[in-house]
Amino acid sequence: MPHCDRSTDASVLRPLVRRPNEAPYDHRENPGNDYRNIYVPTSIDPRGGIDYWQMWSTVAAGTAMIGCMSAEQSIREFTRQAASFEAPGSHFADLGVLDWIAGYVAVHPGDRLLDVAGGTGQLGRHLGRSAELCVVADITPAMLEQGAQTVRMEGRHDVVFVQADAMALPFPDAQFEVVVSRFALHHLTDIGPVLREMQRVCTPGGSVTVIDMVTETGSMGERMDELERLRDPSHVACPRSSRLRDLITGAGLRLVSEATRDQRFLAEPWLDSAQPKPEAREAILEALRAEAAGGAPTGLRAAEADGALTITYRDLLLHASRG
Ligand SMILES: C[S@@+](CC[C@H](N)C(=O)[O-])C[C@H]1O[C@@H](n2cnc3c(N)ncnc32)[C@H](O)[C@@H]1O
Repeated sequence: MPHCDRSTDASVLRPLVRRPNEAPYDHRENPGNDYRNIYVPTSIDPRGGIDYWQMWSTVAAGTAMIGCMSAEQSIREFTRQAASFEAPGSHFADLGVLDWIAGYVAVHPGDRLLDVAGGTGQLGRHLGRSAELCVVADITPAMLEQGAQTVRMEGRHDVVFVQADAMALPFPDAQFEVVVSRFALHHLTDIGPVLREMQRVCTPGGSVTVIDMVTETGSMGERMDELERLRDPSHVACPRSSRLRDLITGAGLRLVSEATRDQRFLAEPWLDSAQPKPEAREAILEALRAEAAGGAPTGLRAAEADGALTITYRDLLLHASRG
C-alpha cells in the first residue's frame, strides 16, 4: 500500500484557492485528469457563498484518497470522538486557549488560512474571522462533518472543509498566508514531513504556527506517551520541545516567537473525553492517584486537591515565518 503518496498533480489543484475575483473553478478545464480525490466547493467566493452540502457529498462519495495505514487508527478514534469537539464545554472551543493563540498569529483581511489536522476547525474558524477564507484540512470525515454542521448553522460562508492527510497536503505550493496546526502533531507518526508540507503550502512571508502538548525527553516522556496511548490509541508521541524547534528550522522556516501555557484538567472528564476501555481507564487513574500521593511521576503532573484529581499539560506554541 502506498504511504501517503500525493495522488494528484499539484497544478491540477491550483484553482481550489483562486481568489474571489477570479473565475470559479470548472472541472472541465482539465478533462484528462482524474478528479475523484479532489474536493472542490462549487464556489469559493465568500461573497458568492459555498454550498457546503454539495461539497461534503463530494467528499463522502470520494472516500479513500488516503492509503495510509497509520492514519486508520486516527480516523477510527476521531470518528468516535467527533461530536464532543462541538459539544458545549469542549476544551477545543475554549476561548482562553484560542485567544492565547490568536495573540501570536496575525491574520489580515485577504489572508487565506489553512488549519492542518484541524478537526472540526475550532482554531481555524476562530482565527479565520478576519481572513478571506479558512480551509480546514483533516483526515477524519466525521470531524469535518461536525465542523461543517456548525458552520452551516452559523451561516458562515468563509470556511471550507477538505479531507486530507497532513503528510501530503492536496494543495499546490504557496497558497496560504497563514498556516496553523493545533493539538495534532502527537497523532502523527512523522512530524518532519508535516512541517515541510506546511512550509510548502505557505506563501513566502507567510506564517506557520504549531501548538501542541509537549513532554520531556527520557523516561518521563515515555511514561506519559504510554499512558496517553492507553487513553487514546491514536496517540503516537508528544513532541519534545527541542526536537520540534529543530524540525521547524529543518523544514526551512524561521522561528519568530514561542510561548508555553499550562492547562489543567480534572482527570476523570479528561479521561472520558477519549472514551478509553474501562480497564485502561482504571489503570490510568491508578497511576495518576499514585503520582498524586507522592509515587512515580507519570509526566502528566497528577495532583489531588479537595478530593479532585487533576493532570496538567504543557502546551508549546512555535510561531515561524517562511522567508
Ligand atoms: C486532537 S484532534 C485536534 C483537532 C484540531 N486541530 C483542534 O485543535 O481542534 C487531532 C486531529 O488530528 C487529525 N489527524 C490525525 N492524523 C492525521 C493525518 N495524518 N492527517 C490529517 N489529520 C490527522 C484527527 O482526525 C483529529 O481531527
